[in-house]
Order: sequence, then structure tokens, then C-alpha cells
Amino acid sequence: MSVFIMACNGNESTQSSNQDLKAETDRMPVKKAIPDSEEEVSELPEGLKLINGSDCNVCHKKDIKLVGPSYIDIANKYDKSDKVITTLAETIIKGGKGVWGEVMMTAHPSLKGEDVEKMVEYILDLRTIE
Ligand code: HEC
Repeated sequence: MSVFIMACNGNESTQSSNQDLKAETDRMPVKKAIPDSEEEVSELPEGLKLINGSDCNVCHKKDIKLVGPSYIDIANKYDKSDKVITTLAETIIKGGKGVWGEVMMTAHPSLKGEDVEKMVEYILDLRTIE
């Protein structure tokens, strides 16, 4: 008899903990690489939205070098200051070469200065070293 009860209890608790787990999973916010609703897009930092709306990601990626240096490498190279933000924004608008290698970054003359500064601020905030 007691075996039966134990088996029964065991079964029940497995079931209910499975249910708990499922409820837990349902409640957990799922991180998506590609946002699929307007609402999620609007939660992205302003600078990242601007980057995603431009051509930057053709040559740059957050954590690995593509044609240009990764955003994290850029953030680790420069201390965030008004001067650095202005200088890098200027480089992006005019194009640049020779800092990271001989590959040229194309000019972006059609971008607004204040937008580019927001992009740079977003990039510099990715810094991973003290
Ligand atoms: C055609 C490829 C390409 C595109 C498009 C591009 N970049 Fe670059 N970017 C590069 C390369 C290559 C470098 C390294 C240039 C160098 O060595 O001075 C670079 C360097 C940079 C740097 C560091 C500059 C420095 O002087 O240290 C920043 C910041 C940057 N890019 C941001 C951006 C942003 C923001 C965009 C989008 C508006 C963008 N890039 C679009 C290729 C690109």
C-alpha cells in the first residue's frame, strides 16, 4: 500500500513540477536576436536603431571584426568623451582609414551629425574593459 502511495505521490509531484516549469518558461522573457514587433523595436537604444537603419552592419558587427573593427573593439580603444564622440562622428561622415588598417570606411555624407553622434555613443557604451 505504501509503495502505491509513494509511486502515486512521486508521479504527481513530477507532473506538477513539470507544470511549474512550463509556467515558469511561459513567464520568462525570451531574448530574440531579431525583434518581430514595432513595440520591441522601439525598446532598442536610439543609437542602435540608427545603426540598424544605416549600412554600418554591412562592415561592422558588435563582437567580431568584419570589414571594419567590432563595435566592442572600438569602445575599448576610446574613452567616452565629447571630443571622442565628435571626432568619431566626423570620421564616419567623412570616411576614414589608417587607424585600424588599410581598409577604408566609406563616407556617410547624407547622415545627420546628431544621429551619427548617437550611433557613436551607443558603440562606446559597449566597452567591456575598465
Ligand atoms: C564599407 C564598410 C564600412 C561601412 C559601411 C561602415 N564602416 Fe565603420 N569602419 C570601416 C573600416 C574599414 C574601419 C576602420 C578604418 C580605419 O582603419 O581607420 C571603420 C571604422 C569605424 C569606426 C572607428 C573609427 C576610428 O577612427 O577609430 C567607427 C566608430 C565606425 N567605423 C562606425 C561606423 C558606423 C556608425 C557606420 C554606419 C553609419 C559605419 N562605421 C559604416 C568600415 C565601414
